Amino acid sequence: MSKELIESAKNKFGIIIEEQLKRVEEMKTSVEETDFSSISPIIIGICFGDGIGEIISKHAETVLKHILKNEVNNKKVTFKDIAGLTIENRAAQKKAIPDDVLEEIKSCHVILKGPTTTPQKGDQWPNIESANVAMRRYLDLFANVRPVRIPNEGIDWCFFRENTEGAYVLGSKGFDVSDDLSVDFKVITEQGAERIIRMAFEYAAKNNIDRVTVITKSNVVKTTDGRFSHVAFRIAKEYPEIKLDEWYIDIMTAKLIDPARRKDFKVMILPNLYGDILTDEAAQMQGGVGTAGSANIGKKWSMFEAIHGSAPRMVKEGRDKFADPCSMIRASAMLLRHIGYPQYASKVEMALDVCGNYEKKLTITGRDTGATGEEYTKYLLSWINNPELKKRWEQGLKDFC
Ligand code: IPM
Ligand code: MG
Repeated sequence: MSKELIESAKNKFGIIIEEQLKRVEEMKTSVEETDFSSISPIIIGICFGDGIGEIISKHAETVLKHILKNEVNNKKVTFKDIAGLTIENRAAQKKAIPDDVLEEIKSCHVILKGPTTTPQKGDQWPNIESANVAMRRYLDLFANVRPVRIPNEGIDWCFFRENTEGAYVLGSKGFDVSDDLSVDFKVITEQGAERIIRMAFEYAAKNNIDRVTVITKSNVVKTTDGRFSHVAFRIAKEYPEIKLDEWYIDIMTAKLIDPARRKDFKVMILPNLYGDILTDEAAQMQGGVGTAGSANIGKKWSMFEAIHGSAPRMVKEGRDKFADPCSMIRASAMLLRHIGYPQYASKVEMALDVCGNYEKKLTITGRDTGATGEEYTKYLLSWINNPELKKRWEQGLKDFC
């Protein structure tokens, strides 16, 4: 009996290794990077998701369409609504992303994606993979870039979370070897580590940041985290003006809430799962996960989303209209910068700062004690359209210094 179990496990493991070796070879072949300055029209696909995703994506769409109205009129940009990324449709088709939806997504250059429900063992849904994780893998969106800023504390962090490997790449391929034994896998490749680490160093160099931190648990998870750390120190040699330090994820989680130390961190690079966890902690400090956006960058496609999930409980309790759209609106600002409209991105970000940190005429609490997402979006738009925006934003910064 146990011999059979071992053989069956070996077979499954063999298939996994084969697939991963193939992926390494694919990563070695160069993919041409999309050059947005030469594309017309740039196609922005919007996937509304489910749960609170639907409503907060609509608010983000309103802001994006407002700010890009001239470009839409001049046919430099077009929008494409992509239906079918709801949990109901994914569950019915038993696919993380149904084939026709994936085709639609691939026909766009960039995607704004609302949160989507990820089934978990024991709930009402079939055990399909997360749509986020699948999209990151299908489109090879290897870099998950998550900025978190707390201006009154001098905090300006940018997290570079590896997005296609680590504990996630085979998250849905773990298996129960027997009734008593379950196995999951964690994978780090030289190529996968290098591309995210290089992106983080490039970002630091471009922004005159002289410190980069790699976060692992390489003292315990020696092989995979060990490789990640090793690659980081190898790449660091190419950037002598930048100091690289390594922190373990446990102490890093503590230091992030240490007011004496936390503002000294600037650029942080993490394997997938640690990046998932630490960025929620960071976002909470900024004002909640509802305030943080996330860019999933690949060479060909990119996808922009909130850092949080679809909060089905809020919908069940009838609170979806009070959900914070700022995460999706911050993601939209990142999208604007990515496709070559940094001036529009700054406008949206300044309005988010003025409304959320400085003026605070409305607040979002997720309940009827605060503004609705629609009211808040109107508030943001009033600042986006206000010629005094930059002045007010600069004033807000000064007040904190
Ligand atoms: C995130 C989310 C996803 C993740 C979930 C929804 C699968 O938590 O984007 O951080 O774990 O990556
Ligand atoms: Mg997360």
